[in-house]
Amino acid sequence: MNLNIAVLPGDGIGPEISRAGIGVLDAIASRFNHTFSYTTGLVGAAAIDATGDPFPEETYRICCDADAVFFSAVGDLRFDNNPEAKVRPEQGLLAMRKKLGLYANVRPVETFNCLLYLSPLRKELVENADFVCIRELTGGMYFGEKREGADEAIDTCVYTRGEVERILRVAFDYASRRRKRLTVVDKANVLATSRLWRHIGQEMAKEYPDVTTDFMYVDNAAMRMVQEPRFFDVMVTENTFGDILTDEASVISGSMGLLPSASLGEKTPVFEPIHGSWPQAAGKNIANPLAQILSAAMLLDHFGLSTEARKVREAVDASLEQYVRTPDIQPEGKPFYGTIEVGRWIADYILNF
Ligand code: IPM
Ligand code: MN
Repeated sequence: MNLNIAVLPGDGIGPEISRAGIGVLDAIASRFNHTFSYTTGLVGAAAIDATGDPFPEETYRICCDADAVFFSAVGDLRFDNNPEAKVRPEQGLLAMRKKLGLYANVRPVETFNCLLYLSPLRKELVENADFVCIRELTGGMYFGEKREGADEAIDTCVYTRGEVERILRVAFDYASRRRKRLTVVDKANVLATSRLWRHIGQEMAKEYPDVTTDFMYVDNAAMRMVQEPRFFDVMVTENTFGDILTDEASVISGSMGLLPSASLGEKTPVFEPIHGSWPQAAGKNIANPLAQILSAAMLLDHFGLSTEARKVREAVDASLEQYVRTPDIQPEGKPFYGTIEVGRWIADYILNF
């Protein structure tokens, strides 16, 4: 298969994990006779520095012309510490989501048996937890009208029937292909938008008689996720709730550095880790590249290359089992491997085993 991939390394540890991810994609291409070509674009603080715009038109064009976008991270301390900044790196990510129509963000939460000890939750609770959080990504408060004054500020949360139906459709389809349980997470006891979600969810549930659909308030879902993570199979929710719940979900598997995601929608799909740019670690060769590498596996799956995706996951499992790990997940007493070394080890495994 020929794939033209737009690579957006972004800021902080982004470029390092991006290189590790591409090394893995190259290994897959070589082992399975595919041709992957890459075009790099600027995004985030790197793009602001070069052009003044966190998602320049040229980057948008590169994304539109590609089959997939391989995104890493944006964010920079210079902007975090300056609330007055007129443009922020994060706006690049939001602009990309909006312009590419990436309304469905798919965040799988899986546990690795050999990393269970890293989870702050008890092993017997998190063992075999395996669910997918589907987050609406182009609506809600993130994109509603805003007003910001010195004494009053307003964020608006708007959802239309069309927006709700298309994301619920993605979620019902996922649930149908998995363990057939869908949890629609909302705050319908308080919010009008949530009541619209719930109403549409109840209507659509009739089209999926083999899926067990529950409706759960977001506060309750946040609690249930740490009390009984195995309850969930597919969870679907609006943008802001999804942002919060997926950070919470990431601790289940023990490290944020492990969770990949796919953002799907109207144009080119984007594959990216859920973690941020960790500027303090930039250039130190200590960042965990696994979320980025597992995002490459999601990319391969998206194009029907499931044997290839499985090979990537097998290589990641092998690296963990053989303690080829970055400091965040390496037990005391074992030597640390760098971002480069972990990436190279996984690429070599793919080429040789
Ligand atoms: C995420 C991030 C982004 C979000 C930030 C960087 C704007 O936290 O992808 O979850 O809030 O969506
Ligand atoms: Mn987030």
